[in-house]
Amino acid sequence: MAMHCEIPFPGIRKLTFGEPEDCVPSAQPYRKAPLADAIAELPEPETAPFPLEEIRFTLSARGCRLELPLRPGEDLYGFGLQLKSLRQTGKKRTLRVNSDPVADTGDSHAPAPLYFSTAGYGVLLDTARYATFYTGGNLPFSRRKAAASAGDIKLTEEELYASSGATAPVIAEVPAARGVTLYLFSGPTLLDAVRRYVLFCGGGCLVPEWSLGNWYRACGTATEAGVAGLARELREENIPCDVLGLEPGWQSHAYSCSLRWSEERFPHRRELIHSLRDAGFRVNLWEHAFLHPTSPLYEPMAEYAGEFEVWQGEVPDFTIPEAAKLFRDYHAEEFTRQGISSFKLDECDNSDFIRSPWSFPECSRFPSGCDGEQMHSLFGLLYQQTILDACRDAGIRTCGSVRNTHAFAPPMPFVLYSDLYDHRDFLRGVAGCGFSGMLWTPELRHAQSPRDYLRRLQAMVLAPQMLMNIWSMPHPPWRQLVRERNLAGEFLPEAEQLRLKTLTRKILELRMGFIPCLYAAFADYHFRGIPPFRALAMEWPEDPRLREVDQAWMAGENLLCIPFTADEEERTVPLPEGGWRDYYTGELFQGEVTLRPDEETLPILVRENSIVPVARPVTHVTDGMVYHLVLRLYGKTPRPARLYADDGWSFGWENDPEHWGEVRADGTASTSLSGRYRVDAVEEIGR
Ligand code: GAL
Repeated sequence: MAMHCEIPFPGIRKLTFGEPEDCVPSAQPYRKAPLADAIAELPEPETAPFPLEEIRFTLSARGCRLELPLRPGEDLYGFGLQLKSLRQTGKKRTLRVNSDPVADTGDSHAPAPLYFSTAGYGVLLDTARYATFYTGGNLPFSRRKAAASAGDIKLTEEELYASSGATAPVIAEVPAARGVTLYLFSGPTLLDAVRRYVLFCGGGCLVPEWSLGNWYRACGTATEAGVAGLARELREENIPCDVLGLEPGWQSHAYSCSLRWSEERFPHRRELIHSLRDAGFRVNLWEHAFLHPTSPLYEPMAEYAGEFEVWQGEVPDFTIPEAAKLFRDYHAEEFTRQGISSFKLDECDNSDFIRSPWSFPECSRFPSGCDGEQMHSLFGLLYQQTILDACRDAGIRTCGSVRNTHAFAPPMPFVLYSDLYDHRDFLRGVAGCGFSGMLWTPELRHAQSPRDYLRRLQAMVLAPQMLMNIWSMPHPPWRQLVRERNLAGEFLPEAEQLRLKTLTRKILELRMGFIPCLYAAFADYHFRGIPPFRALAMEWPEDPRLREVDQAWMAGENLLCIPFTADEEERTVPLPEGGWRDYYTGELFQGEVTLRPDEETLPILVRENSIVPVARPVTHVTDGMVYHLVLRLYGKTPRPARLYADDGWSFGWENDPEHWGEVRADGTASTSLSGRYRVDAVEEIGR
């Protein structure tokens, strides 16, 4: 069947097969204009990553099917947030939106029909269907070249099921559709291909600086007195915190949501919000989009609602501009113009474990014509866009939390989170979802032991969001980490509480020190399309030792973060080429490193010959504040470190993006940085 090919930007091919559906990701209101100038600056490969004739397209009563080449030795990554595996080769992935993936099947809060290859290219299928990908396991019979060594008897399952030939293609099936558009992103390197995708989506989000501080979510049952008390304690104890989150109890009804304040628990919310803002806290509100009959939005939204209720609430069809506007205007009027800076968009995913009417069925219809399956894929991003607009209406550059996202996510300043709590899966999430231009936080809720607590906190020091989600415990975790005991008011002995509080402060201060580096990483995400958190395989795909490293990641340009879980004593990690130094001692490693950290230390390595500008920690970021830096030097000839110095909170940078500057080993800095950064000291950590 005929394929139509366009090259809308250098190194990006748009291939159309058959007749694509209307309800697809690229047609949604959250789609941003590609950053054409930045794409043009990437190295331009002369040819397509593989001969386009090798792509085969077929139609059947099931929908459409594509076969794409895969060469021996090639490995694939991506498919959105995949908590159960990093490397995606040799698997079957069905990209269903599901908040409870029980196995490594492709189910995810945030799947995306998108993969990147170590051979230096990426593929995006523009579909909101639950596509299935067979990533190199299934060789079509007709194409078998060399017969497998037929008679060998296999004795392990691994051997038994190993793919016999390495030239099996990727097979993608898109159900129901009569055609599909495929975007092919060239490299030449894997990182270049990812960058091309991110820039094509409009560049990564530049989150406000305050969102890089600590987030603390108060207990779901908290009252305004409780929240005020918590805020006071955090400040009195110098525990860093920028964002205070209110959970369902702020509303008069949840679940579904009234989106109205509880008069009983928050009678003086205006005063509370103002006093929190005066103390330097941003306020984040939990919600989901399913509207309870007592919501002022319930009646007006009725004509734009989906066929089925969720928790007795209406499901708005945000693909309809009027529906999105109703939601946006209401949020602007009631919340963002009243001092709320950020939202947590819960349960916009889907679940298989329907104890209550958890979400809408895939076969349901929406007034726009989308069905439930398509809506599940698109819902998170549509919802994010209405909330972003409501924030923009009040002049707020926001960053929020969300449970579902999909293709075209990079420009959206929302971080994914989950109820799942396996720590290794959580770490893998940080490493893996950068391939899909997504952000994920391995949040802390409660812990089994002090060591579990400390290591979960450490894992966020160099992650997209530092989030203490204490929604299910009435007391701060340093008083009691174990949820059941916290609920019962059984506190740890005084000395232990004190120690945990001190260590909490220490870990959060480590995070606060890295804000300048992290902020520069986000600016690189926007302007150059480089994901701020990257699996090692993204940068060094040619090194086979690094392809499965899923419990470590690069943060920004030069930091390699290797968090530990509570049950780990020691780990040997293969290192990328070049020298790597211990962040704290400056010790030099090459090839690999064996780490045995004590429970108070997060292992961090630094690329040889770099500068890490570390800020004197503050409890919270204030708009346009000046950071006092200590430049930590690693190696004999450290390269200058780049920093980005807009005001950190407004939209000014969008019209006037020139705020880059550098700090140098001699302690000098570009004048462009002078309003925001001051170098207080230079320290040679290792030479
Ligand atoms: C969950 C969410 C938690 C918390 C809780 C409140 O769905 O993941 O973080 O917000 O709802 O009921």
